[in-house]
Amino acid sequence: MALIAASLLSANFLTLRQDCDMLNNSSADWFHLDVMDGRFVPNISFGPMIIEFISSATTKFCDVHLMIEEPEKYTEAFKKAGADNLTVHFEACRHLHRNIQQIKNLGMKAGVAINPHTPVDLLKDILQDIDVVCMMSVNPGFGGQSFIPHTIVKIKQLKEMINEQLLGVKIEIDGGVTLENAGAIVEAGADVLVAGNTVFRSADPVATIEALKRI
Ligand code: DX5
Ligand code: ZN
Repeated sequence: MALIAASLLSANFLTLRQDCDMLNNSSADWFHLDVMDGRFVPNISFGPMIIEFISSATTKFCDVHLMIEEPEKYTEAFKKAGADNLTVHFEACRHLHRNIQQIKNLGMKAGVAINPHTPVDLLKDILQDIDVVCMMSVNPGFGGQSFIPHTIVKIKQLKEMINEQLLGVKIEIDGGVTLENAGAIVEAGADVLVAGNTVFRSADPVATIEALKRI
């Protein structure tokens, strides 16, 4: 059974409190919060201020996915905003190890996200220092895109690397997760499923989360 990380990017921000309450009353495990800067990705979303409101409306685990350049400048701000896990992009960090140390020193879990074109082998020397690999199964920047099928191969490769090194790193799959493809994703070795549109565009989000969990 995978953990479900509901992505608030697909929520209705005019009625955010209602969407938070809906997730609080669901079997969703994590709140997935997507931060975009208009530089690393071609879209702008929200930052620490909004995350502070959201984290104060839940006791669930707040998983913050930074799709931004120079994440080290904002690490402390996201800690103060209530992040439990902070994920930075492999492609955005020239000094990834230092970035991870900074996150850990502030008492948060640390994640590394990789874009669809980034091979999992490149994580070999950072895996032992992190808690989560957020594997992008779409190009980051937007919700509601289609799952890239090659991700399945990458999940299996990464699972093998993690098992070989006897680590407990979680594999989180982000982008295009649906009720139809979730089975294959979990079977390949995923531990956490991010779901935005699949949850928020469904007629019964609570039941959809439950269905994803039961896969
Ligand atoms: C995309 C974000 C995802 C997004 C997923 O750049 O990182 O977390 O919200 O949305 P869906 O599940 O709709 O593909
Ligand atoms: Zn995300």
